[in-house]
Amino acid sequence: MLLSKVSRGGLWNWNWMLLRQLSTPITRAGYIQRHYGYSYSYSYTHYLQPLKHHHFSTTIASNASKEGGEKKESISVTFVDKDGVEKHLRVPIGMSMLEAAHENDIELEGACEGSVACSTCHVIVKDMEYYNKLEEPTDEENDMLDLAFGLTETSRLGCQVIAKPELDGIRLAIPAATRNFAVDGYVPKPH
Ligand code: FES
Repeated sequence: MLLSKVSRGGLWNWNWMLLRQLSTPITRAGYIQRHYGYSYSYSYTHYLQPLKHHHFSTTIASNASKEGGEKKESISVTFVDKDGVEKHLRVPIGMSMLEAAHENDIELEGACEGSVACSTCHVIVKDMEYYNKLEEPTDEENDMLDLAFGLTETSRLGCQVIAKPELDGIRLAIPAATRNFAVDGYVPKPH
């Protein structure tokens, strides 16, 4: 298809088409490298199969290939308890902060087990920079947050904060109190 467009459009069109085709993966590789800390390789031979004597590669693609093994599989998360004591964890990508807390014996209750029907997993994101990287809360989450004790402008439900590369280094405070469905002294068990 590329070759037929080339023959109809002449030399100017050929250059334009080629640059347009090539710019997409360059931009994508640079973006992923900057924002996710890893990169990937992309061979332009994909676009140039009909032109068998033209084999292109770029410095970006080459570097991306060398650094291809650096993809993050977990992120660093710090929980700060009500006494100010910090606990540092590695949390796998895709795991919620509630699950991470339970797996590491951190006292963050989750009375409804992540079904957004309570506010006992309330956490406070310590830095606005990280708060702004989170997905927007759903209406259901906002409804539950309205019931949370000590609501702040960076409050979220721990079960709705899911580990992703951009959140590497996030710090979460556990409020001094929660509106709790369980009796005093309840300690959540890991799932
Ligand atoms: Fe109930 Fe998160 S555990 S809303």
